[in-house]
Amino acid sequence: MENFVFQNPTKILFGRGMEDRVGEETAVYSKNILLHFGGGSIKKTGLYDRVTASLKKAGVSWIELGGVKPNPRLSLVHEGVELVKKHNLGLILAVGGGSVIDSAKAIAMGAVIDHDVWDFYLGNGEPKAALPIGTILTIPAAGSEASTGTVITNEDGWLKRAVNTELIYPRFSILNPEQAFTLPKFQVACGITDIMAHLMERYFTNVPHVAFTDRLLEATMKTLIVHAPLVLEDPKNYDAWAEIMWAGTIAHNNLLNTGRIGDWSSHDIEHEISGIYDVAHGAGLAVVFPAWMKFVYKHDINRFAQWAIRVWNVDMDVFDTERVARTGIERLEAFSRSMGLGTRLSDLGIKGDRIDEMADKCTDKGTRTFGSFVSVDRESVKKILLLAEK
Ligand code: NZQ
Ligand code: ZN
Repeated sequence: MENFVFQNPTKILFGRGMEDRVGEETAVYSKNILLHFGGGSIKKTGLYDRVTASLKKAGVSWIELGGVKPNPRLSLVHEGVELVKKHNLGLILAVGGGSVIDSAKAIAMGAVIDHDVWDFYLGNGEPKAALPIGTILTIPAAGSEASTGTVITNEDGWLKRAVNTELIYPRFSILNPEQAFTLPKFQVACGITDIMAHLMERYFTNVPHVAFTDRLLEATMKTLIVHAPLVLEDPKNYDAWAEIMWAGTIAHNNLLNTGRIGDWSSHDIEHEISGIYDVAHGAGLAVVFPAWMKFVYKHDINRFAQWAIRVWNVDMDVFDTERVARTGIERLEAFSRSMGLGTRLSDLGIKGDRIDEMADKCTDKGTRTFGSFVSVDRESVKKILLLAEK
């Protein structure tokens, strides 16, 4: 096991009715805030009314900025930064999914500097401060409610890039599984796929002696596999949603990578797909992850066989561990299909004609390699995307 420091400061308020505490939680930090949300789902579900009532009760005033799109855009971040500076706001409250939360994190970093926050996403300089943010989560998926990450898309060039810094851990996140009742089935499937991906990125590691976190990761994956069909069948199954929502936060709050080093190639490659084609992140991962696995499994067949046996209940075959490993990958694909997602680029309506462009973008024209389980370069990215076509 590797040495590690683990400190996740995000306060979690979990369960029915917790949204009504947003006012008091917010007032701890500021009484003058930016209320940030997406395309309108929170108005339809009544969450907006509950949030604003709670803010009023706590004496918190707000300026609104809605309209965050999935794959959140830099131009709206710029608008948010201007609003925060102009009105001297002290906290960004994100009510929505990963896109809204990531946009809020970008605004929180951008509001305390006098240059473009995009510089950080390009790797030019490191953020030194950020305004506090709070969140109310409406979709278990990205894990941004308790993560160090923010992923933003710059419409100028359709570049999707991430920043990771402890400065943007939300101060508090409110998770009521009832909020997920209104999710369209497609978003349910994308969210669960993203959570699975966060676990698998961490699972495939070269670090030895990580038996405890292996087991935690396996248990979290199994929890998703068991409860996904239950919420697809009955979208108002609170208990099943509670399992999925908490699993989604734990999957990405850095607890499960303690002592180990994750891979993250599938995420880097997927971000080029959702950046260029504006597809949902989870839908892209359902295509990229199995392709990546087919490309790398021979690097450590035993780890893949262990995953297949423990997570997917594949029978052990000591004489043919490769078959065991491949069966695990097939079961992952079958799981995605059972939720209504495709597992090939063509299922996303993507033809192979821009594979070179994607490979160029995620390797900075062949000058960068990434992935720690198996290092991938430009040619490897192309091979993985070709496997995603077959
Ligand atoms: O915009 P509204 O109207 O709210 O609709 C949203 C949106 O269309 C809808 N939705 C959310 N909650 C709902 C709802 N509809 C009905 N009822 C509800 N309760 O769902 C759609 C998708 O929302 P979005 O926020 O885009 O989903 P998600 O949470 O999957 O976030 C995806 C983004 O997070 C990034 C992804 O790359 C992508 O841009 N990620 C962020 C990470 C992080 N910050 O740590 C890590 C992840 O790996 C990921 O890259
Ligand atoms: Zn993800």
